Amino acid sequence: MLRFETAGESHGECLVATITGLPAGVPVSLDTVNHELWRRQQGYGRGGRMKIEHDRAEIVSGVRHSQTIGSPIAILIRNWDWQNWAEALPVENPIEDMDGAEDKRKPVTRPRPGHADLTGAIKYNFADARYILERASARETTARVAIGAVAKALLIRFGIDLASHAIAVGSARLERTAAWEEVAAMRARTEVLLGCVDAATEQRMKDVVDQAYRTGDTVGGVFEVIAHGVPPGLGSHTTWDARLDGRLAQAVVSIQAVKGVELGFAAENAASFGSAVQDTIHYDRQARHFTRGANRAGGLEGGITNGQDLLVRGFLKPISTLRRPLESVDLVTREPALAAYERSDVCVVPAAGVIAEAMVALVLAQAFLEKFGGDSLGETKRNFEGYLTQVRDF
Ligand SMILES: Cc1cc2nc3c(=O)[nH]c(=O)nc-3n(C[C@H](O)[C@H](O)[C@H](O)COP(=O)(O)O)c2cc1C
Repeated sequence: MLRFETAGESHGECLVATITGLPAGVPVSLDTVNHELWRRQQGYGRGGRMKIEHDRAEIVSGVRHSQTIGSPIAILIRNWDWQNWAEALPVENPIEDMDGAEDKRKPVTRPRPGHADLTGAIKYNFADARYILERASARETTARVAIGAVAKALLIRFGIDLASHAIAVGSARLERTAAWEEVAAMRARTEVLLGCVDAATEQRMKDVVDQAYRTGDTVGGVFEVIAHGVPPGLGSHTTWDARLDGRLAQAVVSIQAVKGVELGFAAENAASFGSAVQDTIHYDRQARHFTRGANRAGGLEGGITNGQDLLVRGFLKPISTLRRPLESVDLVTREPALAAYERSDVCVVPAAGVIAEAMVALVLAQAFLEKFGGDSLGETKRNFEGYLTQVRDF
């Protein structure tokens, strides 16, 4: 079983992620992990925090001589902003506090609508939303991207590759489908604007972000993750929790600010007749394999991959923190108050796509190892090749 967890707070000392259950012998490159972290920090519309943090992964266990050794992998990413917060958020109560001296920082008592500030403060019984927002922050996704890069390192050994692009920023939308090749090519960009494959649409997306900047507003959008080279047979129809469609949806909606997921062309399909929507089945006698008339299902039928590209879209709400603060109530006085302002992003669509790539990679790696997993890469390869022979001879 592949298991993974993250820990760490936005202004804590560091973020930490562990991933356990990978076979030994998977090549892992620190440069590749760091490149993924860099990609997460890009995109037009990011806030001042991204100028402070230049994320670098430190692999502290589970990888030796650039390959996994079968033991749990732990990755640490330091928060450079921590030095500005070390006094305000100490692990132990400072001595002077114990003597009743005043806290060095002001508590966050004006919860921001659209954040975990109020729900978390009520649930965890704090009159200071700082303890909540530190963990609820999407800074946590840095750790997910780091272990997602390790999951990708496994998948690529079996020909499975992932990439993402922006389909919409606010009302600016890409009006065509993008081919895998053009989406994959974007990973080599050294300057990520809005992560759209079409230059004219990307310019319109930028105009929407500029408008949000001008008016002190924020903007959401839609990203798409494509997983290419996925074999048929991952996931299962047999139980609700084995269905890969459900597992992917949970993983992607768990990303902060993602409020909807679409597999394939789900929204369009729902507005069409059945005859126009299903991916017809054909057989190529020469190549001896099944082919499909289209990929509107997004590579999944019955919760099982069907060998077509996996298409997973995420719908982002506009970022909740506005420069023009929204109405709120002070947690202590219960008087009306304007919500607290924390330095904030205006648009995060390309970054969210990179995070979703990581989540899709982790779920795919889990499903892959459930089916083919061995203790070493060699054993896993033998299992995989045996299955491919079965599929060929079917
Ligand atoms: C990459 C990324 C960056 C984000 N940056 C911010 C930000 O700067 N300010 C903000 O208010 N929300 C930001 N968010 C969204 C919040 O983290 C999220 O809305 C909040 O934690 C509440 O969770 P929910 O929207 O999923 O309910 C970001 C989300 C992502 C994916």
